[in-house]
Amino acid sequence: MSIEVVSTNTSLGQAMSGWQQRVNNLLDKNLPADNIQPSTLHQAMRSSVLLGGKRIRPVLVYAVGQCLAAKQSILDKPACAVEMIHAYSLIHDDLPAMDDDDLRRGQPTCHIRYGEAMAILAGDALQPLAFQLLTHLSSHLPDKNVLQMIEILAEASGSRGMAGGQAIDLEAVGKKLNIAELENMHIHKTGALIRASVKLGALCQPAVTPAQLEALDHYGKCVGLAFQVQDDILDIEAPTEKLGKTQGADAALNKPTYPAILGLEESRKLALQLHEDAISHLQIFGDSANILRELSAYIIGRDY
Ligand code: IPE
Ligand code: IPE
Ligand code: MG
Ligand code: MG
Ligand code: MG
Repeated sequence: MSIEVVSTNTSLGQAMSGWQQRVNNLLDKNLPADNIQPSTLHQAMRSSVLLGGKRIRPVLVYAVGQCLAAKQSILDKPACAVEMIHAYSLIHDDLPAMDDDDLRRGQPTCHIRYGEAMAILAGDALQPLAFQLLTHLSSHLPDKNVLQMIEILAEASGSRGMAGGQAIDLEAVGKKLNIAELENMHIHKTGALIRASVKLGALCQPAVTPAQLEALDHYGKCVGLAFQVQDDILDIEAPTEKLGKTQGADAALNKPTYPAILGLEESRKLALQLHEDAISHLQIFGDSANILRELSAYIIGRDY
């Protein structure tokens, strides 16, 4: 399989751009309008979600759903929910108390535009909105499935998931982590939400089997870690204009990253290994998982 940057000429490129447009429209509809009070908060929420972003997590929800022939109208809810949690995590990640970044998706970060207090509140408000959207699934799926999905997203976002990983990240600044510790940090801060996106997509198919869920969960775990390995590589390799965030921010803050600990070459090899591991779990799906195979290749081959 070629490891290339996705173009809209490829089947993955076409599928991705369709799903990106679909989720962008839905996010727009599901966010409070910016003339509704309190309008500054709503502007901060809307701009942080709507301006830019690759939408990888919603794309994974739709791609897994396509693999299992789930209904798109059901997939829409978790697709929006995971992107809202992600946007909240980015707003808080950029705050002065965390990574202190002033550029995100090629724009000034939320706290630069709206102030720190409003940025904290925008993140705070996006998080429950994600869960509120999942409750709308109860008219499409059995309550048992909906509750399971809410639990998965809650766990992936909380202290045993993303927020916990962010805590590990902050306490690790300036320290030399070993590989196991670094993997643990990355699996939580980034991997957990990506893994949850895969699982939520799968649970949109009420007939999904335990074997299918288990295989997809392995895939999600591998691509989730691979995503952050590539993010660490890009922090070194990709220019600010391409990345939409400041190149070299990790080294400037003395963050433990894969390239800092393993070197660039070994980090690239690890990303490739994780991709191979990810796709090895897709055999039971045959050709219907082709888009998931391509997505995994994209995750480690992307240039921003
Ligand atoms: C960046 O995520 C932060 C991480 C969790 C690594 P993305 O690279 O998915 O950011 P956007 O959504 O495309 O801006
Ligand atoms: C971010 O990791 C993880 C979350 C936002 C949860 P990074 O700090 O590496 O993300 P970027 O590089 O700022 O996007
Ligand atoms: Mg960070
Ligand atoms: Mg950061
Ligand atoms: Mg990063």
